[in-house]
Amino acid sequence: MGEKEDVNIENIELELLLQAIFLQYGYDFREYSRAHVKRRVKHRVAQEGLRSISELQNEILHRPEVFDRLVRDLSINVTEMFRNPDFYKSVRKKVIPVLKTYPYLKIWHAGCATGEEVFSFAILLHEEGLLERTQIYATDFNPYVIEQARKGIFPIRYIKEYTANYQKAGGRESFSDYYHANDEWVIFNKNLSKNMIFAEHNLVTDGVFAEVNMIVCRNVLIYFNRELQNKVLHLLHESLVTGGFLALGTKESLMFSSDEKKYKVIDAKQKIFKKKYE
Ligand SMILES: C[S@@+](CC[C@H](N)C(=O)[O-])C[C@H]1O[C@@H](n2cnc3c(N)ncnc32)[C@H](O)[C@@H]1O
Repeated sequence: MGEKEDVNIENIELELLLQAIFLQYGYDFREYSRAHVKRRVKHRVAQEGLRSISELQNEILHRPEVFDRLVRDLSINVTEMFRNPDFYKSVRKKVIPVLKTYPYLKIWHAGCATGEEVFSFAILLHEEGLLERTQIYATDFNPYVIEQARKGIFPIRYIKEYTANYQKAGGRESFSDYYHANDEWVIFNKNLSKNMIFAEHNLVTDGVFAEVNMIVCRNVLIYFNRELQNKVLHLLHESLVTGGFLALGTKESLMFSSDEKKYKVIDAKQKIFKKKYE
């Protein structure tokens, strides 16, 4: 068989695998970026000592623990505290003054991974005097990372980098005031997470989560194809109050979205948008 035919068969197998996952488990990866999904699936085939994607399909249908491992492969949870510090600087300057005019706020972190971003945001809100009146929702479709995020405990090995990020992000205090540390971990102060609700939510298969004043959904859309980005952006638009803010990742864009015109650009580089009054 030629190489081209092999690739073709592999694509058919992949299609069937994604269909099987959806039918059996309700997770929908059919419109994730194909290159990303294929890479991760082939990685799982190799890790399980299997010969083909079809064999993996058989395994995931009959052994939920194999499916669990595949989901973990498919959800890339790379994150950090004060990731892209300039983004936080821009939020302080351009978004916070508007948020300050509200008596009560709701902020949704969609695709929050292990929670570093949520705690960074809580620190920023605290320094701006807004944390007490903010309800923070933090969601992800991966239940394992949600469990981790809920704890607010992060490995100490990154703390130097996070401290530098915090300072670049315009942090006003001494970063170490926000946590206590032991040999391995930093444990963030409980008052930061007082108003946080952690929940499982799948942006592809679940509906509007809550009506909120700001959505932070950074570095999640990159894994989706254009159609799916469009669909998810629509869900985000529906979840925002008029005048609410949407923050995407630096490599993400509203450009392919039919909702593009429904936003005013607040910071083109940092991908911060404001839902227009219609
Ligand atoms: C690269 S992380 C980004 C984390 C954080 N927002 C940041 O920018 O540092 C992407 C996250 O999106 C989540 N994700 C992927 N598909 C999702 C979906 N359909 N619904 C909700 N979360 C999803 C993954 O589990 C992962 O935790």
